[in-house]
Amino acid sequence: MTAFHNIVVVGGGGAGLRAAVAIAEANPLLSVAIVSKVYPMRSHTVSAEGGAAAVIAEGDTIDEHAYDTVSGGDWLTDQDAVEAFVEEAPKELLRLEHQGCPWSRRPDGHIAVRAFGGMKKKRTWFAADKTGFHLLHTLFQTSLSCSDIVRYDEWFVTKLLSDEGRVHGVVAIEMATGRIETIIANAVIVCTGGCGRVFPFTTNANIKTGDGMALAYRAGAPLKDMEFVQYHPTGLPFTGILITEATRAEGGWLLNKDGYRYLQDYDLGKPTPEPVMRSMELGPRDRLSQAFMHEHAKGRTIDTPYGPVVHLDLRHLGAQVIDTKLPFVRELCSKYERIDPVKELIPVRPVVHYMMGGVHTDINGATPVEGLYAAGEVACVSINGANRLGSNSLPELLVFGARAGQAAAEYVRTLQKGSTSAAYAQGRDEERRLTKELRKHDAGTERIADIRTEMQTTMEDGAGIYRDGDSLDKAFVKLHELRERFDRAAVDDHSTTFNTELVALLELDFMLDIAQSIVACAIKRTESRGAHQRTDFPKRDDEKFLAHSLVHRPNKVEYLPVTITRWPPGERVYGR
Ligand code: FUM
Repeated sequence: MTAFHNIVVVGGGGAGLRAAVAIAEANPLLSVAIVSKVYPMRSHTVSAEGGAAAVIAEGDTIDEHAYDTVSGGDWLTDQDAVEAFVEEAPKELLRLEHQGCPWSRRPDGHIAVRAFGGMKKKRTWFAADKTGFHLLHTLFQTSLSCSDIVRYDEWFVTKLLSDEGRVHGVVAIEMATGRIETIIANAVIVCTGGCGRVFPFTTNANIKTGDGMALAYRAGAPLKDMEFVQYHPTGLPFTGILITEATRAEGGWLLNKDGYRYLQDYDLGKPTPEPVMRSMELGPRDRLSQAFMHEHAKGRTIDTPYGPVVHLDLRHLGAQVIDTKLPFVRELCSKYERIDPVKELIPVRPVVHYMMGGVHTDINGATPVEGLYAAGEVACVSINGANRLGSNSLPELLVFGARAGQAAAEYVRTLQKGSTSAAYAQGRDEERRLTKELRKHDAGTERIADIRTEMQTTMEDGAGIYRDGDSLDKAFVKLHELRERFDRAAVDDHSTTFNTELVALLELDFMLDIAQSIVACAIKRTESRGAHQRTDFPKRDDEKFLAHSLVHRPNKVEYLPVTITRWPPGERVYGR
């Protein structure tokens, strides 16, 4: 079966919906398809809690937001992209306001803003602690008013069709029926989010398996800065569910096993009677996660069946603040830990949360492969550098989702008509490959779950918060072995109706590529910067590594200089 659309957007989360709406606004005559492996309102954007950063408050400036982002990213951000981002972020959030997003407000009716880690001014807009839900809902409703957006909900994309360096569409499986379809398009925008599931303990939903990164990588687009994996300092043990940084913005404390606010020992400021900016618990995520590791090494964390934890203390905030500003946190603690944060301490530990790296794009979401764009967490523009600041990702997916949509619409407008016969042929090849693949795995002897678990453990052990040459080399060898075993993975389910075992196989295939790319980049970067901490190379090395890594398939790494416009590399200073 074959379908045709002018532009296919892969992924129906925040970036995908924003891109689709931008295309519809740029040219209502274009046919846009959103192909998503889940119903859009189940995309991972829905789980964003704490908020979205953009300058709006008195006393704040665009330049300060830019500087915080650049220094927070340990100078690996491209400053032209950051400048565009901070300029456009307030417009995007106001646009959502006009479309009905219920931002929390001050008593005088103005938009309320809260502090967030590494941001030296209060600039994070929020909708209590369910910001992602409200943002996604608003975007989804807006997309429903665009009649030329066609949705393929619960379709899994297996391949990007490309010929002579140009993308021509996708092949996807309708999960409800097993039907395989070639969808021809003039341009494709990949918006599938991150790949946290490559690691064992993550805030990321099960769907975040790096599909879009692998699809683009296989189509010839390099991945950028893959060694930079963000750990969020406060996840619930066992489930990895996020306890938002907003808890600390509202004044929560992190305590070690002695009840001591240990962050005061890590150059992040000293305790003050009031929660203030720049202090301790509101340091950047890389530093807080690293401090946890040091506390653990000193024997000052608390052992649990699900690993060591520290405590997050919200008791002094009181029920009224918690119920108004952090109601979801109270609900999560009650449902998943059977505790009430109004009266009890919350056990927390660092958890994989976000990929700074992703598909290499320019400032308009264009990849080096003609007709292929990427936006949101799947992409690396790069505004996050070596460490993303909390609350920059929601405005990022809006700003760069819109830019990618507009750029793709313009590309399609100026496109010379070319032949798509090669794309049709590739589509048929991919259909045959998928059928053959299934038959091959009929006789498999390895379990998908075993390979996946071993991959995840390998990544945590070899490429976690701290890594070194030895741990990374071992991880690389192990991933190679897992790739070989993958060929013998068994698929026992032969049903065509919601064959989740087949989807798990395809996802694992993608994840193995992504895991290898992370490790390959981490091996080559012999310095420490932001979230990439090498115990064998503990210093930042601007002379050699003020540069993005670009990894080409299979695992060939080169470097691209960082764009510096106004802020030369300096020291990251917090709490002073
Ligand atoms: O802690 C949080 O609410 C996470 C926010 C973010 O990753 O931007």
